[in-house]
Amino acid sequence: MTKKLFIKTYGCQMNVYDTERMVDLMSHEGYVKTDAPEEADLVVLNTCHIREKAAEKVYSDIGRIRVGFEKQKEKDLLERKNEKSEKIIAVAGCVAQAEGAEIMKRAPIVDMVFGPQTYHKLPDMVEEAAQMKEEGVQPRLLDTDLAVDEKFDFLSKKKITKKSSAFLTIQEGCDKFCTFCVVPYTRGAEFSRGIEDVMSDARKLQEAGVTEVTMLGQNVNAYHGRGEDGEEWTLPDLIRRLAKIDGFERLRYTTSHPHDMTDDLIKAHGEIPELMPYLHLPVQSGSDKILKAMNRTHTSAEYMKIIEDLRKVRPDIALSGDFIVGFPEETDADFEATMQLVRDTEYAQAYSFKYSVRPGTPAADMVQVEEHIKAERLAELQELLTQQQMRFNKKNEGQTMRVLMERFGKRENSLAGRSPYMQAVHVNLPSEEIAKKYLGKLVDIYVTNGGARSLRGDIVGLEKQGISAA
Ligand code: SAH
Ligand code: SF4
Ligand code: F3S
Repeated sequence: MTKKLFIKTYGCQMNVYDTERMVDLMSHEGYVKTDAPEEADLVVLNTCHIREKAAEKVYSDIGRIRVGFEKQKEKDLLERKNEKSEKIIAVAGCVAQAEGAEIMKRAPIVDMVFGPQTYHKLPDMVEEAAQMKEEGVQPRLLDTDLAVDEKFDFLSKKKITKKSSAFLTIQEGCDKFCTFCVVPYTRGAEFSRGIEDVMSDARKLQEAGVTEVTMLGQNVNAYHGRGEDGEEWTLPDLIRRLAKIDGFERLRYTTSHPHDMTDDLIKAHGEIPELMPYLHLPVQSGSDKILKAMNRTHTSAEYMKIIEDLRKVRPDIALSGDFIVGFPEETDADFEATMQLVRDTEYAQAYSFKYSVRPGTPAADMVQVEEHIKAERLAELQELLTQQQMRFNKKNEGQTMRVLMERFGKRENSLAGRSPYMQAVHVNLPSEEIAKKYLGKLVDIYVTNGGARSLRGDIVGLEKQGISAA
């Protein structure tokens, strides 16, 4: 009998990857995905702890799901069906890791809590929970072990991918301890997977017909996995090896730290055509005083030098970043230094946040900036970043670029994909049949419109192939 799984992902791409793995795992147990939590036999919330809002959202979602469950139960009772159905509700991810016991206290409906390093045990936990429910006890299982050793071994055996673009986790955890950040506590110490492991996953992706691989890690450019030869491999070593795999036409990696942006890695951007001209390189602030207080281990000048070197080897590279405004003791002058760094860099896109106090991190005990000042600074920074993004997208009008058509778009007979520069690209097609033909393919697109958030364009040569645009 098929069962239904509702899974919601919060936070970063590591969580997106973990969610895909949990779906793989549970599909081996006969679960299919559903978009409606009230219909599900198993509800998993894969959570993020990075900012207060992200963490609080989980509790309000749990509340909403509980109400949905109760309504469904009433309906089932009226219709006299599904009487013995016992739903299991699980909280996974970084909130689970950080606040496991508190979740159990605050949300009595939750049956199990497990962190990012133990989710491979999900099928076993579900079985145990189901057994307990059968016996009339609420499970309340908690597993927040941080050791990574067996997880990847286990997951590799269960992988199912059907997409043209896939994530491949090569590194996890973080030893950098930026003073604002929870990741070292929720994901644990830095860990690089061995080359053999990574290559085995890569081959599976190749067999599945994957065109684009994004290597993932919280500190992906600190990668130092053990090779078959016993030597340590760096990220550029690995990129060169993956680029040789037939079918892998596009490689990307995220997220990087300026500290580990080595000359060899920069060089790789100029040498490897498969390595896409896009880099997400968070800087957080343009003020050296603030960077120091954040424990970022780099100055703004060092960051700018990396950008300059990257542009030397790959002039068209699109840059993205992360920014925090209103970090403790940030003055107007510190904020202005951030604005100047943004003006000097000219980003293709970026993420920016108000500093959010995270209990247990060093910055939580520093002198805080007032909320209204944070809000004003964020608005100012975002306005500048939006202008830069628009400028970048506008520049592409009239150009032809290769786009990986990853999925159907929202409009009828449309496709959506990504440009080499990571922009979202939308294309309308004359019929569903034609849309299907291009799905999952790398296609030349003539860009007709560069908007604030995405590009629009037409497939080059569509009419020449005898398909008239109806
Ligand atoms: N490993 C990555 C990013 C991790 S978190 C890196 O080192 O850059 C993603 C982003 O969230 C960070 O880059 C930072 O900009 C933001 N962030 C992290 N902690 C935060 C906090 N306490 N308040 C506001 N933003 C935060
Ligand atoms: Fe967090 Fe800093 Fe590690 Fe990035 S490098 S995950 S911001 S501690
Ligand atoms: Fe959030 Fe955890 Fe990622 S805290 S940003 S989901 S590593």
